[in-house]
Amino acid sequence: MKVPYLDLKAQYEPIRGEIADAIQQVLERTAFAGGPFVAQFEKEFAAFCGTKFVTGVGSGTEALWVALLGFGIGPGDEVITVPDTFIATAEAISWCGAKPVFVDVDPVTYNMDPSKIGAALTPKTRAIIPVHLFGQMADMDPILEIARNRKLFVIEDASQAHGAEYKGRKAGSIGDAGCFSFYPGKNLGAYGEAGAVVTNNEDLDKKMRMLRDHGQAKKYYHSFVGWNARMDGIQGAILSVKLKHLPVWNEGRRRNAAIYGELLKGVEGVTTPKEAAYGKHVYHIYAIRVAERDRLISALAEKDIHCGIHYPIPVHLLDAYKSLNHGKGSFPVAEKSASQFVSLPMYAELSGEQIARVAAELKAIVAVPAS
Ligand SMILES: Cc1ncc(COP(=O)(O)O)c(C=O)c1O
Repeated sequence: MKVPYLDLKAQYEPIRGEIADAIQQVLERTAFAGGPFVAQFEKEFAAFCGTKFVTGVGSGTEALWVALLGFGIGPGDEVITVPDTFIATAEAISWCGAKPVFVDVDPVTYNMDPSKIGAALTPKTRAIIPVHLFGQMADMDPILEIARNRKLFVIEDASQAHGAEYKGRKAGSIGDAGCFSFYPGKNLGAYGEAGAVVTNNEDLDKKMRMLRDHGQAKKYYHSFVGWNARMDGIQGAILSVKLKHLPVWNEGRRRNAAIYGELLKGVEGVTTPKEAAYGKHVYHIYAIRVAERDRLISALAEKDIHCGIHYPIPVHLLDAYKSLNHGKGSFPVAEKSASQFVSLPMYAELSGEQIARVAAELKAIVAVPAS
């Protein structure tokens, strides 16, 4: 029995008809770039997140970028974020001309450690971007308190956390803005590239709508230099269909995480994810930690069980950020976890049998010491 890391086909099959209808409607109305299907999805996603506004864009990277630019962040500014994330979080900061400043993460949730923020603040700090890694939200209250005291913007990178909660509030709705990726493999994934920013700040929303559309609010009346960061009509229509299924899919992921948790409980040398008491994890990624990561991944692959690594190199040690001069040991918690993470197969349609097989093979492999 093969266990793929992700099976997008299994998710597509039961909604095939709904998707075909949605695409057909876009074709009939030739509403390809932005337009009514994107506007409809924006309305629905705002209601889902519990925010007033949503700006749909072309990717999660663009979501972060228009949010930062919307707050006026640029050259000379510093933005605090974490090193254990996908590079896009830092890239968006860099592409605004600002500098990413990293703080280490919590060893249990792998999210921004609020106690580390103080030492990273400087007069140039303008914003904080906590990343809700793997589908679990960062501890937002202490982050918000620091931000309010220093008049900093908080931009949530919720790219991996559609529907996750913190003290009953949805990811993206707690900071000044929340950024989402709808990359196909995400909990809410488009059938191509897409992203969005959610906010309750009307001025920010207006600015981001112009930024994504060449700096215009009225066609050909460009107020400033923007960019083309619009969402496709077809992606908007597909996302509207898929959003209706998201709560059930997230529950499926949570159920599967609970099964993994039971089966892997007490296995020596394996650390399973912990759900923080303050929130609801949506398990975009089910990352365990083991000492001999490479041996485990290749032994599982031999059994046709396929894993991932998110992410093998923390951002501060990537060649792309060599210029920031962070050596090894700068952020020890992020570095240690990056060297041990293994992302097990995780998606809503994964069967109990498949999970049992992954757990059994994994236990057998870790029980045998490396020669
Ligand atoms: C935490 C995080 N931030 C940002 C992004 C960028 O999103 P996109 O690939 O849609 O540009 C991703 C996507 O993988 C992500 O996981």
